[in-house]
Amino acid sequence: MKILFAASEIFPFAKTGGLADVAQALPHSLSKHIDIVCVMPLYGFMEKSLLQKSELSFRVTIGDNTHFLTLYTSSYKGVKTYFIQTPLLSDTEDLYSSSSGSYANNNPNFGIFCAAIVKLAKELHVDIVHLNDWHTALAALWIKESAPEIKTVFTIHNLAYQGLFDASMLKYFGIDTKYFTIDGLEFYDKLSFIKAGIAYSDIITTVSPQYAKEIMSERFGCGLHTFLQTHKEKIFGILNGIDLELFNPQTDRALTATFSSTNINFKYLNKKGLLKELGIEASDRPLFIMISRLVHQKGFDLLLDSLSEILKRELNLVIMVDGQSSYRKKLESESKRHGNLSLQIGYSEDNSHRLYAAGDFLLMPSLYEPCGLSQMIAMRYGAVPVVHGVGGLLDTVHENQQKCGEGIVFLYPTEEALLDAVERALELGKNTKEMQRVISFNMECDFSFDKSALSYLEHYRELVA
Ligand code: GLC
Repeated sequence: MKILFAASEIFPFAKTGGLADVAQALPHSLSKHIDIVCVMPLYGFMEKSLLQKSELSFRVTIGDNTHFLTLYTSSYKGVKTYFIQTPLLSDTEDLYSSSSGSYANNNPNFGIFCAAIVKLAKELHVDIVHLNDWHTALAALWIKESAPEIKTVFTIHNLAYQGLFDASMLKYFGIDTKYFTIDGLEFYDKLSFIKAGIAYSDIITTVSPQYAKEIMSERFGCGLHTFLQTHKEKIFGILNGIDLELFNPQTDRALTATFSSTNINFKYLNKKGLLKELGIEASDRPLFIMISRLVHQKGFDLLLDSLSEILKRELNLVIMVDGQSSYRKKLESESKRHGNLSLQIGYSEDNSHRLYAAGDFLLMPSLYEPCGLSQMIAMRYGAVPVVHGVGGLLDTVHENQQKCGEGIVFLYPTEEALLDAVERALELGKNTKEMQRVISFNMECDFSFDKSALSYLEHYRELVA
């Protein structure tokens, strides 16, 4: 069985969020069982000299335009990735924005990427194409139309991003108007890429069992809940995992001191080092960390409303944020007012590892969270998660020691509930013995992708049987 796995971002080549981590870790786990290759766009910021030029190159026609595409390849941890160079997408310096601003939901050049995925799937004679999020979703329609023998799996990492375009773009993409219906690609008079993935793929997966349920409700369905309900027989929730070799506190070279569940005292050297570096006094206080993109989803409104109260407590808070938004200014002004809040602007892989290793608690007040990886990484590095109980957070963080892992869960996205959760974390922190038990317990949990990879395998096998 041969699989082509397509995503708009794959670690370490391009990353804005968890999608990139999963698009690396899942194929890597799957490659232990089957033949799998990946494909992503070649972006303008990528150094071509580090890639090999592929012997493949091809032409794709969408609508009235024909594009000549050059392909490059590279391998990471034994998995080969194809990079599609397109004249348009490859000019971008940023994944989802240009110098004139963000593409928000709709860079049409991902349509060219979709056409390239279909072409590559045919060239490589794959059995299944595994598509991820809206950037790849149109490929499900085109495969159904032109190569129905190839099966498609569509994974929803975040339903809020849908790839919506003006209906006039149907012609640009060369899509027959017969597909522009409520059962097909139409969404409030717009052309929706994500609906192509939902309607025409053979199987849909989401990144946690809880999120699979949630997206079929009005609260989390982003306007698509009834549409998803009509496809519920083919929707499955499979929990994400993390790459335990990349996230390993016992070997992590980014850390001040490596540590394991049996010598967590070394963890505190990381905390001491970080606080000294940041010039934070009262370093014996519990350290809360947060690592997040500056987007509404991650709960910044709730956090900002509660921040002054939180910071009155005997704690330190370090937040690493990425992205442009009005939240940044507000956070910056808060950090000027409060000595126990430190901001790290810009994402750095190594610095994020250092933060996880230093933190006593990870704060994750997400309004919704399809899966979330930070809480799993935090537990692996001995930081206890304090999370809003939604989506994958509910599947991975529990208030009792029956199930991996353990942490503090608040069920309502209110200031009161968040403050109460912080208080409970502080209580736990005071009880050194109990705190150490939770840390060791979490560090022993298996958050790898291996178990979930087997679930994907089962679905693949059913599709080609
Ligand atoms: C998206 C989701 C996040 C998930 C990640 C990987 O970034 O917002 O919850 O963990 O995709 O699937």
